[in-house]
Amino acid sequence: MFKWANLFGKKEVNYNMPSPSGRNICHFTLQSGEISYSLERDQKPIIKNSSLGFKICGEKDLGRNLRLIREKRSKKNETIEMPWGEDRFIKNNYNEYAFYLAENSPEARILTLRFRIFDNGIAFRYEIPAQPKFQNISVQDELTEFNIDLNTAVWAIPAYQPDRYEYNYEKTAVFNLANSVHTPLTMCTPNGYYLSIHEAALYNYGSMTIKLGPNRILKSDITPLSDRTIAHLTLPFETPWRLIMLADSPTELTENRLMYALNEPPKSDFSWVKTLKFIGIWWAMYVGEWTWAPGERHGATTEHAKEYIDAAVRLGINGLLIEGWNDGWEGDWLENGINNSFTTSTPDFDMEAVARYANSKNIEIVGHHETVGFVDNYEKQLEEAYNYYAVNGIHYIKTGYAGSKMLINGHKEFHHSQFGVNHYQKTIELAAKKHICLDIHEPIKGTGIERTWPNLLAREGARGQEYEGGALSPSHACYLPYTRLLSGGMDYTPGIFDIENAVKRISTTLARQIAYYVTIYSGMQMAADRPHVYEGRFPKIFEFIKAVPTNFERTIALAGEIGRYYVVARKDRYSENWFIGGVTDESPRKVSISLDFLENGSYEAIIYTDSEDAHYRDNPFGIVIQKKTIGKSDILDIYMASGGGFAIKLQRLP
Ligand code: NOJ
Repeated sequence: MFKWANLFGKKEVNYNMPSPSGRNICHFTLQSGEISYSLERDQKPIIKNSSLGFKICGEKDLGRNLRLIREKRSKKNETIEMPWGEDRFIKNNYNEYAFYLAENSPEARILTLRFRIFDNGIAFRYEIPAQPKFQNISVQDELTEFNIDLNTAVWAIPAYQPDRYEYNYEKTAVFNLANSVHTPLTMCTPNGYYLSIHEAALYNYGSMTIKLGPNRILKSDITPLSDRTIAHLTLPFETPWRLIMLADSPTELTENRLMYALNEPPKSDFSWVKTLKFIGIWWAMYVGEWTWAPGERHGATTEHAKEYIDAAVRLGINGLLIEGWNDGWEGDWLENGINNSFTTSTPDFDMEAVARYANSKNIEIVGHHETVGFVDNYEKQLEEAYNYYAVNGIHYIKTGYAGSKMLINGHKEFHHSQFGVNHYQKTIELAAKKHICLDIHEPIKGTGIERTWPNLLAREGARGQEYEGGALSPSHACYLPYTRLLSGGMDYTPGIFDIENAVKRISTTLARQIAYYVTIYSGMQMAADRPHVYEGRFPKIFEFIKAVPTNFERTIALAGEIGRYYVVARKDRYSENWFIGGVTDESPRKVSISLDFLENGSYEAIIYTDSEDAHYRDNPFGIVIQKKTIGKSDILDIYMASGGGFAIKLQRLP
């Protein structure tokens, strides 16, 4: 492989790389030994000339003084089938260009740059082959730029903060970005195109954040390790794909699934993976009725678990999360996590008995591991901890990494550093071996690796409903579909019906709580409130939660504006039924929904909307339920109250 470095190469090149329809054109340039790219759509500039390359510790920069040895073109037009998710089929249609480059120096280091140009985005990655004098390297910086107009609007959350990805989105302009921000980084150019910069297939490398460089150009800022490098690598190595999703409207952007197309298919059989809906010994802790730690109000007792299993059966929900079952929660658990045991339960909780009982009732237990970021403590117990669940017939685990950083052998690392990325991957692969599915809280962001590892069913990775009680405005859930959710599903913990609870007041209407099951996808979807609230006060509304699927055939974004509102329709993977959900910010609004996406025939529609006098602050319980027979020629006029939403179930009539 190394031989091609000895070939004669071109010093100056300029390639036009069109997408299959020709609408997007990416340009690759080699000039004076330096590599760069730019991007246009409809002949209008999106990304102007942007540098590429690396700073390597103790070596010359890689990406300078290069010549082009060889160029290889290929194309693909296929449809990928996903085992679960928002869309069963994903189009993977691109033109690919690989540029094989070598240095004009005695070392003659080599590097490949691979581009894939799609009609709805572009992606490229660096591939560094193994070379005699270049085997173990430490990367100091990745020099990838995204040279976008400074007046581009951007919706961002800050990176390197104590609460990881859990911040409120803010709209600003690129020229105003003072600090690094996370991806997916969603933007709207002055000429009206929507795009989101993100990455796909993040393995063994720091996660990419984006910052405005001193030259006023957006640049990758890869999350560093505590030794200030961004990755220690043994070559060969391929970086994650640098992905730019492109769309003509914000709703079209939310349908972009390129991130999955850029990941590899699974290497083993994952047919055992099943999406799940679950209740939990959980919200009772948030509203102060129960505690994680043992004591008089301990939530995770054998008795409570059995009661919740019975409730799950009555509610028609298949899973039960149990938090606080294990040793280590005493005192301030956010400080004391170093002592957590993942294999010993508290005296009032009998894991074997609970698991047996759940099994006899066909309820899946969702086990829980809260590491509090003490990753060394967790890694020491990892094999045993996963075995413990496996022998008890438990197939789902929710993990957690509360804490501002991960702790390992006395030093701290960012959750989204190369260290964190590798730790999460270790848990995913171990879980896969034991046929366990994961729901990771305080996770690494999604980069589509669920395609390769379908047992990674869910993650949190943004402010979820537990932040309610003041820290979430109604606009938050109207930002998520256009930003965070471009990186995959989110365990938002929807379904809180006890809205006016004195300890955790929720900024919502009742209809909005069920809308979330459609607007925020998750492969593991929680009905987060306590069963007595569902059964005693709102059995009719709960019917929607019971019916809504966790695996969809197709998703169509119907209407929306970033941070203002979002309306989406999804077809069940296993029936002819459709589900529609919508959420709005503080502004009440009316939406007209054309049902022309439906198949021919009649549907029974059950429509849950805010009443005209509903309001997230003053009248959150104002809800109207209507039943109608409708078809594809109908238009539904729906009202959403301030901070409200709506949900519709469309059942195909025979
Ligand atoms: C934070 C998680 O997001 C939450 O769901 C969990 O209950 C707590 N950590 C405790 O593990």
